[in-house]
Amino acid sequence: MKVIICDNYEQIAKEVAKMVSDQINEKPDSVLGMATGTTPAGVYKELAKMYENGKLNMSEVKTFNLDEYYPMAADDEHSYHSFMNKHLFSKVNIRPENIHMLDGKCKNPKVECDNYEKKISECGGIDLQFLGFGQNGHIGFNNPDVSLEGDTHLTKLTQKALDVHYAHFENPEDAPTHALTMGLGTIMRSKKIVIMASGALKHRIVRRILKRNIRTDVPATILHIHPDVTLVCDRAAYEGVRIGVDLGGTEMKIGVVDDNFQILKKVTAPTPQGADADAVATQIAEKCLELMNDYNVGSIGIGTPGLIRNSKVSAVNLNFDNYDLAGAVKEKTGVTTYIANDANCAALAEAAAGAGRDVKNSVVLTLGTGVGGGIIFDGKIYEGKGSGGELGHFPIVYGGKKCGCGLEGCFEKYASTTALMEMATDAAIKNPDSLLAQKYAENQNKLNGLLFFEAVRENCPVANTTLDEYTDYLSAGINGLIYIFDPEKVIISGGISGAGDALLSPLKEKIKFDVPIVIAEHKNNAGLIGASLLH
Ligand code: F6R
Repeated sequence: MKVIICDNYEQIAKEVAKMVSDQINEKPDSVLGMATGTTPAGVYKELAKMYENGKLNMSEVKTFNLDEYYPMAADDEHSYHSFMNKHLFSKVNIRPENIHMLDGKCKNPKVECDNYEKKISECGGIDLQFLGFGQNGHIGFNNPDVSLEGDTHLTKLTQKALDVHYAHFENPEDAPTHALTMGLGTIMRSKKIVIMASGALKHRIVRRILKRNIRTDVPATILHIHPDVTLVCDRAAYEGVRIGVDLGGTEMKIGVVDDNFQILKKVTAPTPQGADADAVATQIAEKCLELMNDYNVGSIGIGTPGLIRNSKVSAVNLNFDNYDLAGAVKEKTGVTTYIANDANCAALAEAAAGAGRDVKNSVVLTLGTGVGGGIIFDGKIYEGKGSGGELGHFPIVYGGKKCGCGLEGCFEKYASTTALMEMATDAAIKNPDSLLAQKYAENQNKLNGLLFFEAVRENCPVANTTLDEYTDYLSAGINGLIYIFDPEKVIISGGISGAGDALLSPLKEKIKFDVPIVIAEHKNNAGLIGASLLH
């Protein structure tokens, strides 16, 4: 089997359309086997474009479609007849008499199917059959079963197929219960076959097809014994999905992430407390194995708190002491596992799939309880020996406030949300008549970012002065970071970034450089998505 791996779906469509047009150029009266579904739709679009540009002539081409619902009138909007007319036949110069489709309203399905087979052989057989397949490995309506039928036949839709197809019908009672479909023998008699797969959800079947075992519970695996099959798939279908693990002190979030950075499934689990390090690895591995029942996973990435050296992690609150967490998870799951600092993972998500996706060099600053973040250098996390990019702990005030890290005057002591709230609380207490003080009192002598920025928006002079002081510190750090890294963008994330322009406007005025300062796009899932991107 020849395999062509494309970057994305658009490329698959172009590649397959080119194969079809090559086939037609070589043999203008080619017999094509057609499929329906989202995957071939893009190919038809490309073919229609080619025809419009005078690069395709289908006047001699004959087509046979794989399948049709039963019972189903050809002019029903849900029919595959309607699909083909809409996507291809009405847009190219194919002759109506050369189009062959199974009649979903036929009186005698057996006769209809036998005639279909006869017509195919009368036309000299199918020259090029193109196919999509379902997540259970069906092709046409040849669904998984203990035995599979060879020729065109009437088949009852399986529950899984019904679930998929009912989604297309407003009223499920109108949905057909059966279908007419070419059999696997019909398909295998085609001279050439092109099978397409797009998206991580198809990965499992792609792997199965490539494994060379023929299984009746994955009908598409039969294609392996055909002498001329080309699989055209995108990277997501070929490589599969990745698991990202955002390991926190109390809870871990584990998610399956596809090539478009979408979380397909997410689970959470408590992080074992006070247990040995191996208990954490076991918990991660168990959750991953659960997810691996439904998804074929290419890699696992773990974002962890703590210090990483030579891929081993030390984190006091997790009982990790130079522990090979990635190695332990790999051993338990059998899947390649990577590890990085959690703040760096969140930065990577922002850089690859968020506000920094259009640049290669950025600094992501997470303003929260502390200051975290990461440096993205040439599209990758800058890690130094393992935990580089610890942006909260460079001193910006000589002899300043003592920091938990042992230094004094660290950036996070002045630029974190905690620092801003300390400054604001101080100001509210010192200015009891201010609007800020009023909000502080109304909230049981407690301030939060929301209340503080409310006061800023309502033009409270005390809140404004506090913000001015805070942005002095924040901008000092950012100016320093820009001097050192010369990034194309600075991305602000963390809870306080929700303030948007109320924070950005005064901050930007104090930035010495012409570097865009923007708000992050990801919220709670940044760590998980970033971890999934580790490689
Ligand atoms: C339909 C057909 C099916 C589809 C399959 C994938 O004629 O042959 O095998 O190709 O259900 O459909 P999509 O492309 O929508 O995922």
